[in-house]
Amino acid sequence: MTDRQQKIAIITDDPGWHGRQLQASLKDHGLVSQCVSLTDCIIAIKDDGPTLSLPGFTSLPLGLFVRGIPDGSLEQVIFRLDILHALHALGNTVYNTPRAIERAVDKPLTSLLLSHSGLPSPITWICESHEHAATILDQETAKGKQLVLKPLFGSQGVGVHLLDKASGLIHDEKFAGIYYLQRFIQQQNNDFTDIRVLVVDGIARAAMLRRGRAWVTNRAQGAICEPLIMDKNIVRLAESACQVLDINYAGVDLMQDKKGQFYIIEVNSMPAWYGLQSVVDFNIAACLVDSFVKQIALNNQLHDCRELS
Ligand SMILES: Nc1ncnc2c1ncn2[C@@H]1O[C@H](COP(=O)(O)OP(=O)(O)O)[C@@H](O)[C@H]1O
Ligand SMILES: [Mg+2]
Repeated sequence: MTDRQQKIAIITDDPGWHGRQLQASLKDHGLVSQCVSLTDCIIAIKDDGPTLSLPGFTSLPLGLFVRGIPDGSLEQVIFRLDILHALHALGNTVYNTPRAIERAVDKPLTSLLLSHSGLPSPITWICESHEHAATILDQETAKGKQLVLKPLFGSQGVGVHLLDKASGLIHDEKFAGIYYLQRFIQQQNNDFTDIRVLVVDGIARAAMLRRGRAWVTNRAQGAICEPLIMDKNIVRLAESACQVLDINYAGVDLMQDKKGQFYIIEVNSMPAWYGLQSVVDFNIAACLVDSFVKQIALNNQLHDCRELS
């Protein structure tokens, strides 16, 4: 088996509260950890195959918990994902897996996969042509609808725009030449709420209602977090979304329209849990680390079996 250090890498550029929470829970499992930025990692391809160097690690880590991949050029983001793919291919436990992160970070791919599996996704158009996008906006506004324009790889409600007849198509470099246009979900009493569900190992563990003063209800945009008891429908949708994306854990965002119909808005593969932690009575980092450690054990068994066979 590849030489491995008994140390965990937390992949992040911003350790902060979440990094400290993870480190404390890892310590409870007797595990030492270190935060690592993907921007400091090196891939080397030599005569005897590829190797990876992570700062602070003399050999490969026992596992990697991916908390964040920093923004950058397309090339930088692809390279950072390559590092995770390489670590995964070398037998490391990368949590979430790079493939699952790719599926979830990519809003069009998530929408496609969820809709293809029969899960309720908002009506959405994705295209490159400005002309097509303008036609869709015209057709929708003629029906009295508004559209949400989102950056493909956005998060925390940054760069989302609400379009109507008066605004027309908005130009923003964040959109990088792709229009992801989604029909605006009108809520009861013109409320501004959505639901965040934390799913770990296929099971919906907790949820909260986020209540905004405006239509973007991310906590990072000032929304208030309220505890929420999940009904069967919420549990089913959140768990199914994670099954479709084949993801170890995720923060699934749901919205309900004025008729009560639920939609899956997105699946976050590296969700923050500061807000959710404030409304639940169990330790979320501990729950995530339990699942991560279980994954490491499963992965090691798999490799031991491969070596024996
Ligand atoms: N189709 C929609 N209709 C109404 N509000 C939406 C819609 N899509 C997103 N929003 C609002 O915008 C927020 C951010 O959108 P989301 O797709 O989750 O992107 P991000 O990755 O930035 O969180 C959501 O939490 C919700 O409040
Ligand atoms: Mg979101």
